[in-house]
Amino acid sequence: MTDDPRSPKEIAGSHSTVVKPSSLDAKAILIPPQAIKGTHDILPGEVEKWQAFESLARTTFELYGFRELRAPVFEPTELFEKGTGATSDVVTKEMYTFTDKGGRSLTLRPEYTPSVVRAIIEHRLDLEGAPMRYYYMGPMFRYDKPQKGRYRQFHQIDIEVFGEKDAAVDAEIIEMAHALLGKLGVTGTETLVNSVGCRACRPAYSAALREAAGKRRAELCPDCQRKAGTNPLRIFDCKVEACREIARTFPLITDFLCEECREHFARLRTYLDALGVAYRVDPRLVRGLDYYTKTTFEIVTSHLGAQNAVLGGGRYDDMMKDFGGPDVCGTGFAMGMERVLSVAAIAPAPKKTLYLAYLGDEAKRAGLELARFLRGSGVECLVEYKDRGMKAHFGRANKLQAAWVLIVGENEIKAGRFGLKDMASGRQIDGTREELLALLRKD
Ligand code: HAM
Repeated sequence: MTDDPRSPKEIAGSHSTVVKPSSLDAKAILIPPQAIKGTHDILPGEVEKWQAFESLARTTFELYGFRELRAPVFEPTELFEKGTGATSDVVTKEMYTFTDKGGRSLTLRPEYTPSVVRAIIEHRLDLEGAPMRYYYMGPMFRYDKPQKGRYRQFHQIDIEVFGEKDAAVDAEIIEMAHALLGKLGVTGTETLVNSVGCRACRPAYSAALREAAGKRRAELCPDCQRKAGTNPLRIFDCKVEACREIARTFPLITDFLCEECREHFARLRTYLDALGVAYRVDPRLVRGLDYYTKTTFEIVTSHLGAQNAVLGGGRYDDMMKDFGGPDVCGTGFAMGMERVLSVAAIAPAPKKTLYLAYLGDEAKRAGLELARFLRGSGVECLVEYKDRGMKAHFGRANKLQAAWVLIVGENEIKAGRFGLKDMASGRQIDGTREELLALLRKD
């Protein structure tokens, strides 16, 4: 808290004077710090929605046998180069990479999947015999152009399952995503699914795409011309209308899937039907990361603009062995928390605060002890250390929308009985601290 009565804008506006960096006068450092572009503070008033979201996510995922796994915010750069993929936009353009004081190249994680794979290999979680179903929520970092729904520090809720080859698990996690979105009151969603094939069948498809892209090369944007050489599937991600138009004429992966991938995709659809999940097959859904095999999916909503994917995921059967670990397959998804919250309908119940109104120094001491007693039993008590009269106390409690006011004055201390006012009904009750606690607990 600052004593400056001016608003942050006024403070910033008053600091237009150019300050000489060489000035030794401490008062000359006038420009207040500001959050980095593309990052944001989550303030009280808003944070309650995040907490409710996180809590619903935890309880939902645990119902499906998932457990939390927390990995570091930064990792060796190679982890993402190898995991996320050297041709992905995330790795080529968007990573926050820096060299630490030990000369190592580190990267603030742009996504979570490679970190979980690394943790499994490092701790040999595959040998423990426990189900390998993990969830995590936390910040991710991508240096992209900030816009609505796209930030440089954003938050994901990520889930991953390992060691389950069956397409049923792909369907189960999609259904789990819907279960959570339903609890959050997210409506107007559409589920898109596809299969991007595997190492056996994708090369032929990539070759066919390369050939098709080659024929229209001159009409493609420079980025897609490059993608045609490195990873032609990525052309489907291009937002340039001319490229999209051309991509619509390209061959479809569906016609190139090997028997195993075709079968997996057919099974996925049967399980989704069995679970009552409506979906649309989008044969151009390739996703922006390099590691996917077989299943890919996204849940999009009509309530968001250009950044309409609230979550995306898929299967990645080769990442663990490509890292030199065991041959264990994986599948999962990540939700963008900002995007989900912007379309969610959650209204956390307001907090029930008890405001302590004390008069005088002795009452302050007694009130402090009372607050300690009540907090010990789970009652939220707010004590502010300003010498206020009773009227000012009530004015403040009203402003804070406190549920209760506890009145502590000399007479109350002598009698060992205190006044408790219910601010909604205006009713005031007197009682010992135990009696009042019993009443507060009933509420
Ligand atoms: P992704 O599609 O890159 O996948 O990101 C997943 C979700 O994170 C997106 O659908 C979106 O909601 C959100 N998101 C991504 N970038 C931003 C951004 N700059 N600002 C705000 N929200 C964003 C992955 O990250 C994979 N790791 C998902 C996965 C897990 N696949 C398998 N397992």
